[in-house]
Order: sequence, then C-alpha cells, then structure tokens
Amino acid sequence: MMTDKIRFLMCAPDHYHVDYVINPWMEGNIGKATYDRAVDQWTKLHHIIKDHAIVDLINPEKGVPDLVFTANAGLVLGDKVVLSRFFHKERQGEEPYFKTWFAAQGFEVFELPKDLPFEGAGDALLDREGRWLWAGYGFRSELDSHAYIAKWLDVEVLSLRLMDDRFYHLDTCFCPLANGYLLYYPPAFDAYSNRLIEMRVAPEKRIVVEEPDAVNFACNAVNIDSIVIMNKASDRLKEKLTTLGFQIIETPLTEFLKAGGAAKCLTLRVTEPVHVEVHANVPVESRKIRLEGHLLDSGLISRALDSITENGGSFQVLNFNLGEQRQSTSAAEVKVSAPSLEVMEDIVSRLIDLGAVAMPQDVRDAELLPVVKNGVAPDDFYVSTIYPTEIRVQGQWIPVQKQRMDGAIVVNLGEGKEGGKAGKEGKGGKKKVKITAECKLLRDLKKGDHVMVGVGGIRTIRKTESREIRNSSQEFSFMSGSVSSERRVEIVVEQVAWELRQIRDQGGKVVVTAGPVVIHTGGGEHLARLVREGYVQALLGGNAIAVHDMEQALMGTSLGVDMKRGTAVSGGHRHHLKVINNVRRYGSIAEAVKQGMVSQGIFYECVQAGIPFSLAGSIRDDGPLPDTQMDLIKAQEHYAELIRGADMILMLSSMLHSIGVGNMTPAGVKMVCVDINPAVVTKLSDRGSIESVGVVTDVGLFLSLLTKQLDKLTSPYQQLVGK
Ligand code: ARG
Repeated sequence: MMTDKIRFLMCAPDHYHVDYVINPWMEGNIGKATYDRAVDQWTKLHHIIKDHAIVDLINPEKGVPDLVFTANAGLVLGDKVVLSRFFHKERQGEEPYFKTWFAAQGFEVFELPKDLPFEGAGDALLDREGRWLWAGYGFRSELDSHAYIAKWLDVEVLSLRLMDDRFYHLDTCFCPLANGYLLYYPPAFDAYSNRLIEMRVAPEKRIVVEEPDAVNFACNAVNIDSIVIMNKASDRLKEKLTTLGFQIIETPLTEFLKAGGAAKCLTLRVTEPVHVEVHANVPVESRKIRLEGHLLDSGLISRALDSITENGGSFQVLNFNLGEQRQSTSAAEVKVSAPSLEVMEDIVSRLIDLGAVAMPQDVRDAELLPVVKNGVAPDDFYVSTIYPTEIRVQGQWIPVQKQRMDGAIVVNLGEGKEGGKAGKEGKGGKKKVKITAECKLLRDLKKGDHVMVGVGGIRTIRKTESREIRNSSQEFSFMSGSVSSERRVEIVVEQVAWELRQIRDQGGKVVVTAGPVVIHTGGGEHLARLVREGYVQALLGGNAIAVHDMEQALMGTSLGVDMKRGTAVSGGHRHHLKVINNVRRYGSIAEAVKQGMVSQGIFYECVQAGIPFSLAGSIRDDGPLPDTQMDLIKAQEHYAELIRGADMILMLSSMLHSIGVGNMTPAGVKMVCVDINPAVVTKLSDRGSIESVGVVTDVGLFLSLLTKQLDKLTSPYQQLVGK
C-alpha cells in the first residue's frame, strides 16, 4: 500500500505538562494538563496515525515538556532537514535531542546561524503537491530564515506574516491538503499574505474556517491522502470537507491545547518527497541601510526598527556604533528583509523618511520613467514627503525644489524642450548640463516629464536633532511635536511671541491660516493688530473669515451675534449676506477698503499694509465674496505660492485650510496649530517633524495672550522713547 511509506515522528507525553507560558494558550494553564488524560489522548492519536502511516518515536526527555510537539523539530524535505532554532529559551533545550535523532536516521542536518529563529514544520508547510513551501514569520520564525531554507532545500518559499498571537505558528491556522486544497483562517494573516494565498490557491480550493473552528485548532490537522485528523470540527466544516472528498477523524486533544498545540503539532511528517522540477526561488528581498544621528537619544533607531517589523519586514542590526560623548552621533547598519519587492519598497521609503541612506557600495542613480499621459505618473512613482530630499542623477545628488508631500519628483535633465534629442545635436562638445529636480503634483505632470520611480537613489536630509533639544523640557522648546494643554498655553505663547518678534526683526516670513472662529471668539482685533504691526506676511483662509471680519467691522456682529454683548441681534442672521452683497458691489475687498466701506479689521489691515491674502472657496460658501477663489486648483496654487519661503505658519482654528497648508509645507517650517479640538491639533502637529507645536485652546484667548506678550517684549529703550 502506497501509504505504508509515509512516516511520522511522534514523542510520547511521559514528561509533558504546561510548565511555562510562551503563547496565549498556556496562560493560566501552568500545571493544568492532566497526565492520564494527556496520555490517553496522545495514545488515541498515535493509533489513528498508525492506521495510515508508520510512526517513529523519539524518546521523551525530562525538562523539555514541549518535546511532544515534534512538528517543531525541524523541516524535512527528502533526506535533508533544517533544524529548528527555538525563539524561546524554554524550548531551546529540545534542539540537541532532535538533532541527534535526525543524524541517527541519516538526514543531512542544516543548522541556521545563531539568533536566527525558525521553528521547523510548525512554521513551514509544504504544499501537498510539492509545488512550494509556505513559511510563516512574525512570532517564532524570523523572515531571514526563509532565505536559508530556500537555498538549502532548493524549494520556492512563500512567506506569510502571522498577525494574531493566538496563531503564533503557521500550522495553527493554515493546513495545505491533498489535491491542492487549503484549509485556513484568513484573519490570522496580514493583507499582503492573504493576497499571496489568493494568488496561489484558486478560490474553489480555499477552505476558509471560521473563528470557532480556528480556536479549536481545526487547521492544526494531519492530512494523509484523503484522511484529515484533527481535534474537533464544526458540523459545517465537516460537511464541507466531506463533500470535497475528505474523511474527517476527530480525536480530542484538549490537554495539548492547553499548551497551544493539537494534532499537527504532535506529529512531524519525515517523508516528504522531493519534486525534481521545483527549484529554489526566494522572493525574500534584503537590503542594507545606514542610519546616523542621535539614534538612541532621539529614539530614531527604535522608530526605524519598529517601522520595519510593523510593515511586514524583519531586520538584523549588522553594526551599531554608539557615539561615546553626549554630543557624538551614532551610526547603525541594518539589514532589512521583506517577503517581496513591494513590501521592501514600502519599508525602505519609510526608512528614507527617517533619514536612512543606502550603504556606500549600494548607492546608485534614481530610476526615472517618462510620463506618457498628462497628469498621470508612472506606476510605482516615488511619493514625496515634507522632508528636504535629494535625488541622485548621473552620479550627482540633486536637491529637490518645491518640496512638499504627496507629489512626484520630476527631474529636468537639462536637455531642453526636445528632451532626448539633445544628445544627438550636442556634437559641438560637452556643454555642461544643469540637472534640476522638483516636486510636482500629479495634475501638473506633463507628457515626457522624467518621474522618479522606486526607492533607489534618494535620500532625505534630516538635521541631526540635537540631543539637548530633544530632551529639554517641552515647555521651553518648539522642538516638541507634542500637544500643549491649558497650563502650557502661556508658555507656548511666550515662545511664539519671541519667535514672531525674531522673524519680524530679521525680515522673515510668517503665514497665518485662520478660520471664522477667530472672529467668533473675539480674536479679530488681535489678529488685525498682528497684521498692522508687521507680524504677518500672508493670510490664508476661506470665504467665511473675510465675511465675518468685515461684518464685525461694519456692524459689530459676527454671524449676527453682537460681539460686545454676546447676544443675537434681531435680524442679525442677514448681516453677513449684506456684507457680501456690499463687497460684491465694490468688486473686491481691496476696493471696499479704498472706497471707505471697510475701515477696520483684519482684511482692512491687510489691504492697508499690502499683505497678500488668499481665500479658498468651498461648497458651503455664501456669496461668495469676489475675492474668494472657487476654482480649487487655482486656490491651491495661490496658497502654495504664498507659503513659499515661510519661516513660520500660524494655524488658527481652521481644520480644512490648515491641513491643506500642512500638505504643501516642507519640513523645517515652524508650525503652530491652535484649535480647541485636540484631534485637529494632533493631526497637524504629528508630522513626524519636530518643528510643529500644537496648542489646544480657545483661539481668541490665544491671540489675546499673544498680543499682550508681544507688548511685554518691547524693549525698555523703546518704552523710554515712547515708540
Ligand atoms: N507550547 C508549544 C509552544 O508554544 C506548543 C507548540 C505547538 N506546536 C506547533 N507546531 N504549533 O511552542
């Protein structure tokens, strides 16, 4: 009989008990596995398997209770075995016993490098047709082990990332069956892995189990031809498997579930035929990167390493040079691995944002592809960030202009309008070409533009965050990306006032984005004063702030509410429409000011001082004012133009306009976001850049404190001479 040749390795539970906790199933179960019942359950399983295959036994040993889970001995293919390297020290004592057994059976034994965990057939399951190997990672096995396995066993490895700690081994939630079927629990895997599974296994071959079956370890099944042996299955699952031609044998293994194992874990198939037509193919990608800076003090290294694992990769720190003095920087070299190029590029682009660079020997030019349709980037285009970026073209690092997030990087090769033809014409010698690069929005891409794709040949320039600044108390520093609450408001105000004065005195640029709440909360007069005194170089907002500012100037109300008394004025709800109507008559805000219709307020001061403003329209705008730009693309462009060169941006209670502005602004520009809603503040100050500060407070109060603080800053000399 064919099945006679199939052999399994098992280990009697003489010394089995729950002795420690290394998975969620063991929690609360220390000492709870009953010896007699365990022996009984194991013996039944042993008999069932013996009916269909040969069972080899390894001697039980004291002190290694999980030795019963022979699936974790190693991974067998043909006459080769890759020995497990256990993740937890609790199980590392099993390794020599399994090694001795495999060697005695004549297997060629492969051992992974120290500290590279891999837990054998618990985390690596051959397709039953032998076409490839499914390998799990995320809890017990390291992704990098997959590359060794592929090489040693000459098999294609498909890496699957486990996400749910109840299903810490691949065999707890995934079971390839005969005839190309697959029994599995999809929520145990990340999205990429699910996609991979769906690409390799046709829909009619996928048998999805529901959570109740999954937690009964229905996927932890032993499959011998059409026989499927498991702890327990729901009627529905049994019916399904039966109609597909399988015969289910249930045998209770509850005592072993207390340790997080069941049928499959208790067995290791040691006869796995080699399919000659199958060869190694390791989609596992590896790349080395370098990080430099105050890696420890600024937390950069942990952010980088976390971002690798959180996004589906794994890493090995090859080198870590810890700076010895407080001010010396550290450098790290890290090998990053990912299950595919796609995942790798995602991880690498995140690391680039953190300032990672390629190793000197790997530095290469960025890959450029031409735009073939106006307004559409090539697939895989690099998405720009707020960080100052450089791109490598023809061996030179070119600084990217107009840095902003969510754009594409376009390189101008200095070829002139004819693009590629320049080369042929240039026979009169090598004229020096000036290569430039800039961020462009998708809609601005033109046919023939050279757009950067992939993640090679790019770096972001991160100022080495001084460790002092990082660690100093947040109150006295801009350099905290944190949200300030009540008590800190005053301290932040002092800091902002000081900065505003500094920027004004040095001829710098402050841009304000403001929402109508500024007026409703009584901040209008203070903002007007900031404009009048030269603290504001550009003002951005929507239709409403201008309408309410002028309504207040003309009628003393804001949306019909008397600003002095705080009560609604009768007929006041029509005030703002009358204002709009009047300004429309004049044709523009500037005209309304010049003709004397508006004689105070924020917009009055802007017109008087020649401060440019931009009003971006929206669907809910009344009117609108003649100045309100209802073409949003034009409005975005005008905003971008006014933001350029800003040293600081004050965002005053306008979620929409502030977020829009945040998206257009490169890192390095100080942003102060004031809003009563912490969610808005968090969203804006959490740009992963240290220069933004959030203040959760009433904006009217903030502005009033700010002007008071600016008064205090007047020098004693100025006070003496009276101006
Ligand atoms: N207590 C063991 C562990 O946590 C159970 C191993 C189960 N084996 C398996 N192949 N899933 O390692």
